[in-house]
Amino acid sequence: MHNFTYHSPTKVIFGQGTVPKIVPELQKAGISRVLLLTGGKSVFASGLYDTIVTLFREAGISFETVSGVQPNPRLSKVREAVEAAGKSRAQAVVPVGGGSVFDSSKAIAAAVGSGHDVWDIITRKHAITGALPIFGILTLSGTSSEINDTAVINNTDTNDKMPVAHPLLYPAVSIVDPSLQYTVPLQQVRYGGFDTIVHVLESYLAGNDTAGVITEHSEAYVRAVMRCLNALPEKLNDYATRSELTFCATYAFSGWCGLGRASRGDFATHRIGHALSALYDMPHAVTLSVIIPNWMEYVLGKGLNRDVFARFAVTVLGVPETAADPAAAGIDALRAFIHSLDMPSRLRDVDITAKDIPALAENAARTLPFGSVIPMDLATITAVLERSL
Ligand code: NZQ
Ligand code: ZN
Repeated sequence: MHNFTYHSPTKVIFGQGTVPKIVPELQKAGISRVLLLTGGKSVFASGLYDTIVTLFREAGISFETVSGVQPNPRLSKVREAVEAAGKSRAQAVVPVGGGSVFDSSKAIAAAVGSGHDVWDIITRKHAITGALPIFGILTLSGTSSEINDTAVINNTDTNDKMPVAHPLLYPAVSIVDPSLQYTVPLQQVRYGGFDTIVHVLESYLAGNDTAGVITEHSEAYVRAVMRCLNALPEKLNDYATRSELTFCATYAFSGWCGLGRASRGDFATHRIGHALSALYDMPHAVTLSVIIPNWMEYVLGKGLNRDVFARFAVTVLGVPETAADPAAAGIDALRAFIHSLDMPSRLRDVDITAKDIPALAENAARTLPFGSVIPMDLATITAVLERSL
């Protein structure tokens, strides 16, 4: 095993009926004024917003609400919320939503705590020197934003979707109640599940160079998520299925699957995917499904990671060990699984053609360096995109 440091300071409060626990957590931290951050509609339609507002009023916690965070969260909304947090002298940010709301809350927390423009922080012009604490309530699983130190924000003026990560951005507390997700549409549940799988694969497929327990643990995650997704739509409102999916989503990208490896993960699929979101406002999980099988083919074509891909095919995807080329058969099986989720596995499925590739590649190259199996540059990004057509 390679050396590692693992630090996961977020207190996760998991399970049905746990929303009210946010109040004592805020009180213990001496917080009485918060910025409440939400998405567009679901939190109001489900009644969750009213529940939280009632809890806060009863507990004497004052709040300023900023709503309307969109998927592929916009920098402009983050700036609006930074201003609101400053005016109301918020002591903490309370995101209520999915990855986009949590990611926005991290950017807000960093900008307020560091006293700099948020885009200057994301583009590393200014360091993160402080951050408001985050006490969140998750309504949609997939990203692990509720337990990690990362945020990804869209600047629609420059067409950049940029990640930022810092130890001060781990949420202090995340309430993860799977039953809040019963209102999530089937396709969105599938997106969250597929994002979870790719978070594991970014580490697992990068190389089999850690302890067996980490490798087997990673395989168990992917198998579990596939089993739960295959049980949908029948089990859409089944707590056992939804809580297992939620659990996997939270811990898949907590850093655990990358432990003991030479590289924490490859992440070329994610970074190229962010370019697709930046230029086409594509849902995050779809950006992954149109890249990862093709990235695998590209890697295999270079004669790399055949043993890792073959193991994945046999132990996770059910490809017979005796298959002529298990690694290649595994990619076909992954593609078939993607299609079974009603998701695309090629750029042409989402109307992207060869003429679009130069702009996409240039956009993805803005976030270099990335890629550990094949360290990426403009030429290799272009080649992966061409393979994905
Ligand atoms: O705005 P509302 O009406 O709430 O609708 C949202 C949104 O349209 C809806 N939704 C959320 N909770 C719901 C619900 N609908 C019904 N019932 C509920 N309980 O779901 C839609 C998508 O929400 P969003 O937050 O955008 O989805 P997700 O959680 O997949 O987050 C995606 C974002 O996270 C980033 C992605 O790039 C993308 O921008 N990621 C963040 C990561 C991280 N912080 O570590 C890692 C990931 O790889 C990813 O990059
Ligand atoms: Zn992801």
